[in-house]
Order: sequence, then structure tokens, then C-alpha cells
Amino acid sequence: MNTQPIGIFDSGIGGTSIFKEIHALLPNENSIYLADSKHAPYGNKSKQEIINLSIKNTEHLLSQNCKLIVVACNTATTNAVSYLRSTYDVPFIGIEPAIKPAALNTKTNAIGILATKGTLSSDLFHRTTDLYSNGIKVIEQIGEGIVPLIEEGKVSSNEMKALLRLHLQPMIDANIDYLVLGCTHYTYLMPLLLELLPQHVKIIDSGLAVAKQIKAILNQNQLLNSTNKTPENLFHTNTNTIVLNDILEGKFKVKYLDF
Ligand code: DGL
Repeated sequence: MNTQPIGIFDSGIGGTSIFKEIHALLPNENSIYLADSKHAPYGNKSKQEIINLSIKNTEHLLSQNCKLIVVACNTATTNAVSYLRSTYDVPFIGIEPAIKPAALNTKTNAIGILATKGTLSSDLFHRTTDLYSNGIKVIEQIGEGIVPLIEEGKVSSNEMKALLRLHLQPMIDANIDYLVLGCTHYTYLMPLLLELLPQHVKIIDSGLAVAKQIKAILNQNQLLNSTNKTPENLFHTNTNTIVLNDILEGKFKVKYLDF
């Protein structure tokens, strides 16, 4: 029985899509979420900047006694998770674009990846793509401008729809049948994506897989919280609390914190 919190961080509010999966699968677990919205987007920063921000977030979560850290950001995972794992003792769970299931199941031999520049240019992403993309076309699209709009609370705005139309067109032209979402913010675009993509295109999001992995690692390390006490799920943002609170539908405690 371990009541220490799970620590979760992202460049902003996108990682709440991962939190929701974790909370659904592990409802007893306490958690602390850091939305580093002040420094969003991470996607256009250098690898070293992304590592430095990930260190800052990790050290804050460790100072709060977290037992495991979820890097709920593809950009931070692909650029910084190996550094974090080699530096700190707690287990780290990251998230990467799920290329494998798309590449294995495509019938049109063309798949699309929508992610940030930081993710698409990382060594880890290149290694995974090289491993699975044999004989298929991988259309990589930088989701330029999407994260800032989501951070402004404009998930389903006309501006977002126009931007998405632009980003999706090269993939539609290439006749993709799978779209891999490579950014935790993009999960919130699901309704618009379903509207804009041809019906046969399947969308792959790895949130649930990440939550299952967290459960397995906690179990393996005997870190699961088996008490029946109502958990405490805290959210901290270093910008205003409104958008974070909205995306959580007002169900959790959201506080401003200068970190
Ligand atoms: N949620 C982050 C990700 O999964 C967004 C990156 C950014 O801030 O650009 O990549």
C-alpha cells in the first residue's frame, strides 16, 4: 500500500488527456499535475531547453514526494526521458507517437503522424520510424500553431478548424488510412478530426496504453495505492487557471503556482 502521489507533467494542459485515462484506470491514486503553460509550446524549443524544463518539472514533483513520474508530453519524452531515467531513481513513464500499430495495420501503405517539430526531429522518433516504416509511406506533419490555440482555450474554434484542414491535406492527398496523434494536446481535437478526415481513416492515440503501462509498473514495484480513501488529485499551472479548469470540467482542484 503506497499513498505517495503519481507526478505528471506536460508543457501545458494537453497531458490532462493522459491524467483522465490514469484516473479512470487507477481511481485510488493520488496525483499532482504540473501544467508548464508559461513555457508552452515545448515543440519549437531546442533539445537542451526541453531537457532543462523537464528537469525543473521533475525536481518539483520529486520535492512533493512523487513515487513515479509520467512525462505526459511526447515532445519532452522523445527529447528528455532518457536523460531523466539516467539521472533520477523513480520510474518514468513517457509517451511517444504509436507508429507501430499504424504501420502494421495499414492497407493503403500510407500513415500520417501529426506531432510537434521537437518530436518529429528527435532521435527517438527517428529510431522508431526507421524500425517500422519499411515499405510504407510515413507522412510527418508538424502541427504548427495547434498547441498555442489549445492553450488559449480555442479547441473547437473556426481558427482551429482552418489550421487543421491545412495540416491534414497532405495526408489526405497521400491516401493515409491511419493518423497517429503524436501530442497529448491533440486528443482534444478528436471531434474536429473525425469531421475533417475521410471516414476510413482511423485515429491512434496512446493515452489508454500509457495508463495500462503505469498500472503495470506500479504493480511490479509494489507501489499501487490500495486504500479506499478518496484520492487527492491536484493540478498546478504557472499561468491562469481558467483554461485548465475548463478542460477538467471543474472537477478537480486547480491552483496557480510559480514553478
Ligand atoms: N503536449 C505536448 C506534446 O505531447 C505539447 C508539446 C508542445 O508544448 O509543443 O508533445
